Amino acid sequence: MNAHTAFATTSSLAPAAPLRPAELSPTALAYRGAMRKLAGAVSILTLGEGEARTGLTATSVTSLSVDPPTLIICVNRNASARALLLEERRFAINVLRPHHEALADQFAGRNGEKGPERYKGADWTRLETGAPVLADALAAFDCHLEETIERHSHIIVLGRVAAARITEDAEPLLYWAGGYRTLSGLAAQR
Ligand SMILES: Cc1cc2nc3c(=O)[nH]c(=O)nc-3n(C[C@H](O)[C@H](O)[C@H](O)COP(=O)(O)O)c2cc1C
Repeated sequence: MNAHTAFATTSSLAPAAPLRPAELSPTALAYRGAMRKLAGAVSILTLGEGEARTGLTATSVTSLSVDPPTLIICVNRNASARALLLEERRFAINVLRPHHEALADQFAGRNGEKGPERYKGADWTRLETGAPVLADALAAFDCHLEETIERHSHIIVLGRVAAARITEDAEPLLYWAGGYRTLSGLAAQR
């Protein structure tokens, strides 16, 4: 995703030090620029309870299979939510709507928000697993963590979906070319 940092190692289990742009190969720089052209839906991964709640903003969510219902999300090995995610083994993916832009920034920690601070200003509920679910999400997937695959700077997380819900007649919040967008905004730019 566009806001990601690149990392130097591919094999160690310990989080690696981020590479500065000047240290990236020409191909990596070209890759990063090309990925900015890939429009993505903005979701937040949520997990934990009370003061132990945490999460992150992500555009790397994609479907793996319908039967069994399984999704994938790529989580940076340096993300503050990583340890709890591996311990709790249950989480929700909440697909955001345009009015959730500030929530997306909170879950990205853009103003230094950590853990439960990221949950302020929104309404929360729970479905099957007990993970926090955004009440007015465009779509929400309540997941058990099925498997993780450590690869390069990220962990590929497979989520087995225990429950899903949607809000009808609502739009997604998108991220494209380094900024938040809406479907109507993108249509107007063409
Ligand atoms: C639009 C957007 C999309 C993002 N997508 C991902 C993603 O798919 N995976 C990921 O690990 N981090 C992603 N991030 C970065 C995380 O949300 C977060 O900023 C980063 O993990 C640092 O969080 P921390 O303070 O909890 O360590 C994204 C950030 C933004 C703003």
